[in-house]
Amino acid sequence: MKIVIDTDPGQDDAVAILLALASPEIEVLGLTAVAGNVPLELTARNARIVCELANRRDIPVFAGASRPLLRPLVTAEHVHGRTGLDGPDLPDPTMALQDAHAVDFLIDTLRREPAGTVTLVPIGPLTNIALALRLAPDIAPRIARIVLMGGAYFEVGNITPTAEFNIYVDPEAAAAVFGAGVPLTVLPLDATHKALVTRPRAEAFAALGTPVGRAVAQMTSFSERFDLAKYGSDGAPLHDPCTVAWLLAPELFSGREVNVAVETASPLTLGMTVADWWGVTDRAPNALFIGDLDADGFFSLLTERLGRLPA
Ligand code: BDR
Ligand code: CA
Repeated sequence: MKIVIDTDPGQDDAVAILLALASPEIEVLGLTAVAGNVPLELTARNARIVCELANRRDIPVFAGASRPLLRPLVTAEHVHGRTGLDGPDLPDPTMALQDAHAVDFLIDTLRREPAGTVTLVPIGPLTNIALALRLAPDIAPRIARIVLMGGAYFEVGNITPTAEFNIYVDPEAAAAVFGAGVPLTVLPLDATHKALVTRPRAEAFAALGTPVGRAVAQMTSFSERFDLAKYGSDGAPLHDPCTVAWLLAPELFSGREVNVAVETASPLTLGMTVADWWGVTDRAPNALFIGDLDADGFFSLLTERLGRLPA
C-alpha cells in the first residue's frame, strides 16, 4: 500500500514514520512537513533526521505550510521540547529537503498514481491536506483513504478542555478535510490515550539494542516527563503510530462509522470534534471514529517492526 505521511515531528510522529518505514506492506512515497508541534523549519528538519535514523535517505521530504489557514500558529514545545524531537541526541540531517512545495507534491502524486491507490496519513494539523484539496478538488476522489490522528470525543481535549491539538491548531483545515467526502479513519485521543508507553514497553524498545530502539526509548521517555505529570497515568500516550498500526492491523482497533463535525466558531469549544456517537442527528456518517485499541497487540506489533530497522 502506498502512503504519504503528513507530519509535524514530534517524538510520536517520529515513531509513526519509523513504523511505516519498517513495514514491508507499506511503501512511503514521501513525507510532507507541516507547522505544528514546532515551526515548519524544525518539522522539516526532524522529518529528515528520522529518515536518516532509519537509513532511508531515499525518502523525499517536502516542506509545506508554515502556518494554519486563518490563524496564528500554536506550538507545543511544552510537550515535545525546543527542537520538537528532544530526548535522543541525533545528528543534524545531511539529506536535502526537496525543492517542491509539499502541497504540490501531494497534488502531483495523487494525479500521477492510479486513482484509489494512495492513502494519506496526516499526523499533524491538517493545513497541507486542506490546501491540496482546495487547490485541486479533482484529487479528492483519487485518495484511497485519509487515516489521521486527531480529535477526541469521550476523552475530551488535551490542548483545551474540548479540543485535541492537531484539530485545534487549524480547525478550518480540519473542517475542510472532514467535509471532503473522502473515506476517513480517525484515531482520536479516545483510542490513543490507551496506547500508553509503560515502563516494560519502553524497556522493550531499548532492549532491541539498535540505534532505532534506543532512540525510540529516549524519545518516549522524554514525552513521559510532561504526560505523566498531566494525566497521572502509568505511561505517556503514543498517539501518531496508531494511524500506521491501523493500516497494518485494523483488527487491533474498534470504532464506529459516525458523523464528525469540527467546531470553527465558538471561542469556548474551538477545534472540538463533535462525533455523533449515538446517532442522534440525521447527519450522514463521514468517518470511522476509533474508540478503542488492543494496547498489548499494538505494542507487540510496533516493537517487532522497529526491530527490523537496521542495526
Ligand atoms: C497530537 O499532537 C501532537 O502533539 C502529537 O504529535 C500528536 O500528533 C496529539 O494530540
Ligand atoms: Ca503529530
